Amino acid sequence: MMKITINGKTQEYDGDPAMPLLWYIRDDLKMTGTKYGCGMALCGACTVHLDGQATRSCQLPMSAADGKTVTTIEGLDENNAHPLQISWAEEHVPQCGYCQSGQIMQAASLLASNPSPDDADIERAMSGNICRCGTYPRIKKAIKKAAEAGK
Ligand code: FES
Ligand code: FES
Repeated sequence: MMKITINGKTQEYDGDPAMPLLWYIRDDLKMTGTKYGCGMALCGACTVHLDGQATRSCQLPMSAADGKTVTTIEGLDENNAHPLQISWAEEHVPQCGYCQSGQIMQAASLLASNPSPDDADIERAMSGNICRCGTYPRIKKAIKKAAEAGK
């Protein structure tokens, strides 16, 4: 029996250990904030935190999450008031919205390890998160604003 703590709650799982974590989050737990984009760890739509690190859940087998702590967009802040969620709303970042939970989870991982990122840090950290709507300038602005707010 595998045990995975997701958004503060321990879940038990005895299914296929090779199943991607994303399937479990979306299909079993019905937490649909985390999106399926490419399924190949190329777009970042499925990004969650695994023991605090931004991780592509579409390519992470359940066996690799056993004993670990996972945070999805639903668990980022209990009041949906993480500094990034506030700055995202203030800057009207999303367009279609599809990529945005992955973008926020990637950015949250960046700010947790580097509270004052410069432009190059942001570009490096966010380069694997694709937005087909091209919201990149607003994403960058919102990350800077959240970093300022956190000082
Ligand atoms: S869906 Fe996982 S990286 Fe694209
Ligand atoms: S907001 Fe549409 S894909 Fe990013």
